[in-house]
Formats: sequence, C-alpha cells, structure tokens
Amino acid sequence: MESYLSVRGEAFARKKPTFLGVLENAWDPLLNPEGIVNLGLAENTLMHTEMKEFMNSEIQVDSHSLTYGDGFSGSRKLKEAICHFLNKNFSPHTALLPSHITVTSGVSNALECSAWALFDQGEHLLVGRPYFNAFRSTFSDRAGVGLLEVEFDKIDPFGLAAIEKHEEALLAARERGVRVKALLLCSPHNPLGRCYPEHVLREYMKFCERHKLHLISDEIYALSVWESPDLPDPVPFKSVLSINAAQIMDPGKIHVVWGLSKDFGATGLRIGCLISQSNQRILEATEGISLLNFPSSLADSLAARLLMNDKFTSYYLNTNRQRLTESYDFVTKFLKYHGIPYRQSNAAFFLWIRLGAATADTTATDDEILAKLQNKRVYIAAGYAYASEESGWFRMVFAHPREFLEEGLKRMLQALAS
Ligand SMILES: Cc1ncc(COP(=O)(O)O)c(C=O)c1O
Repeated sequence: MESYLSVRGEAFARKKPTFLGVLENAWDPLLNPEGIVNLGLAENTLMHTEMKEFMNSEIQVDSHSLTYGDGFSGSRKLKEAICHFLNKNFSPHTALLPSHITVTSGVSNALECSAWALFDQGEHLLVGRPYFNAFRSTFSDRAGVGLLEVEFDKIDPFGLAAIEKHEEALLAARERGVRVKALLLCSPHNPLGRCYPEHVLREYMKFCERHKLHLISDEIYALSVWESPDLPDPVPFKSVLSINAAQIMDPGKIHVVWGLSKDFGATGLRIGCLISQSNQRILEATEGISLLNFPSSLADSLAARLLMNDKFTSYYLNTNRQRLTESYDFVTKFLKYHGIPYRQSNAAFFLWIRLGAATADTTATDDEILAKLQNKRVYIAAGYAYASEESGWFRMVFAHPREFLEEGLKRMLQALAS
C-alpha cells in the first residue's frame, strides 16, 4: 500500500518503539490478569500513592497555567525551585541560578537540545558500553549525531582503566577522520546502577580538557541511590556540578541534565532541565527551538510547588530510598535462590541480570529468551538493546510493589524453564 510519506517520514515510522504493545496491554490482577507484566520500562511506582496524594492536594489551575507561562524555557518560579532543590541536593560548587537552566519536556528532550546545540550533522559522541538504549535515538534520529561506542572487555567500567579505553577509541576514531565532540557520562548509570567515584569523574574531566571535548553528564537518577545489602562500602553519587571545574577543564563545556521522571517517579509530567553554568550560548540555542520542546505550564507549576516543598521532598526521597532497598533485597534474594547471576548495584531501579546463564535450554539466543518471556507475558529488556558487550544479559526493573514483582518473577521463571 502507498504510504504517501517522505523518505524521512518512512524512516521515523520504522522507528516506532516496540514496547508500546506492552503498555497497551498492562497486567492488572483484577482488571487484566492476562495482561503483560512490564519489568522492562524504567519507571518507579513505589511512591505513586504518596505522590498522587501530594499532587492532588497541590494542583492549582490558575491563568498562568493556561498560558505560555513566562516563555518557552520554563517559568521563573520553576527555575527558582530547581535551583532551591538542586543547591540542597547536588551541592554545586557554584550555586545554581535560574539563568543557568533551561526547562525542557523531559530529560530526553534536554539531551536532544544539547545534541542540536553542540554538534553538527555527522559529528560523534563518545559513550561506554553498555548504555541507556534511547541515547541512540535521542542523539541520532533527528539531530544526526553518531554514537562512538567504547568497549571495555572485562575491565571495570567505573574505574580509571575505562578512561584509557575511551582515549583509545577516540584516537582511533580521529585517525579515521571521525569528528568527536563530546563525552556522555550517565551517573548513576543506566543500566548498571552504579555511580562514578569522584576521582574518576575528575580524570574524565581532564580527559575532556586534553581532547577538547564537551562533557554531558546525565544525572537523572542522582537521588535514587540507596543502601545496598550487597555493597557495604558503596560509591555515593557525586554531581559533576559539585566539582570545582575551573581548575580542571573549560567550564563552558560542562552540561548536566536532570528531571523529575526518575527521582520523583513521574515520567508522565515531562519535566527535565539542561544546566550549563558557564555557557549561556547553549541555553540560548535551546531556547531558540524551545517552542517545539517546552512542557505544559500546568506541569511546570506543579513541579515548582513540589521542588519548593522541603518537607515533602525530603520525606519522599528518604522513603523512596528505603523502598528501593527493600525491593532490591527481595528480588536479589529470589535471583540467588534460583541461580540467576546479577550485577550488584546501589542506584537507580533496575538489575542487570544474566538470564542466558539460567535458561533450561542452554543454547537459547537472547532473541529466543525474549520470545520465551513474551510467551509468558512478561516484558524484560534485552541487554543487546543497551549495547551489552556480552550476550545473555537483560535489564529488569524492580521498583514496583511486591505483588507486581512476584507475578513478574513467577512468569520469568516459567519462561526460563520452557
Ligand atoms: C539515563 C536516562 N536518561 C534520560 C532518560 C529519559 O528521561 P525522560 O523520561 O525525562 O525523558 C532516561 C529514561 O529512562 C534515562 O534512563
């Protein structure tokens, strides 16, 4: 059948996300018991009851919420609220000001804005494997930025040796004529659930300075770091903003993204931000296309109320951390009991698990394991989508109530046995 689309329209149509079928048929013990248990999408529902109660009591539809607000880069109130909140929780070396921030429609959008502003078509971004699968579409689909993947073999992706691997990949790429503009770090890391130690962050900054790279730091899971029963001496979260960059690298090349999707379990609000404390121009470039990006004024207003409410946010973050610890403990005990290997973690809300080592059919490929999971109506994301260097790995989200996890894990075991 004739599609009538342009060439790029056709290309976009082919990129329609495959997990949408999962959302349309979500499991519910009463309303849809035959539905799919979604342990694939990075959403945290552990605090939804408290957040709904807070938001329902705070929502106020005033005239401002029905307008374009204060322009297209976030309201003055929200920018002040983000500064208030992050100055407390990220300990920036230089206090954040509203003029350092552009509000965007979620963090994906903030990242895409950095792609438009910093790169020209065909330029590349360095990123270590494995990495959050949507980085590929966020940087490449519209802005045309290529991902230059870094392989680590067996070395620790959070250690100093990993920087040498970045350097090797960068030099080899430049030798081939590939233009590399920036390094992307994700700390806490998706999908590995760990933070970069401060001394490693400092070395990455020196690396950026040596090679004239921008540093884009995705800190969307910053406050979802919890006590892990597996790691008695964990690496805590350290924001790049808290490091005195002036002594290490050009501060005009440091850009941080954060938002409400993960730390406040609110992917639906679509509130994110791009922070650049010494580069007004990147924020202006983002504002230049902000008509196409900015979030609803109603969500903007609600977010501002949330971030100004110290009592609720500190209660929320602490309780969220406790629940994440409990959920991690529950799921990892289950994994150990059933002999399913996993990587220990203390941040974010997914586990990197090796289903390939626990299937009854030891020759099953990752696609075959995915098909088995699908067959039992449980969705767990395959590691190859995250550019995993080894086969057999999957990413499983554990930030859901016990009943949900029990159903998902039961189905996962059935799939592995089939
Ligand atoms: C590391 C990382 N960055 C960005 C995003 C996108 O977040 P948002 O929903 O705010 O666009 C996600 C979502 O999973 C993520 O894991």
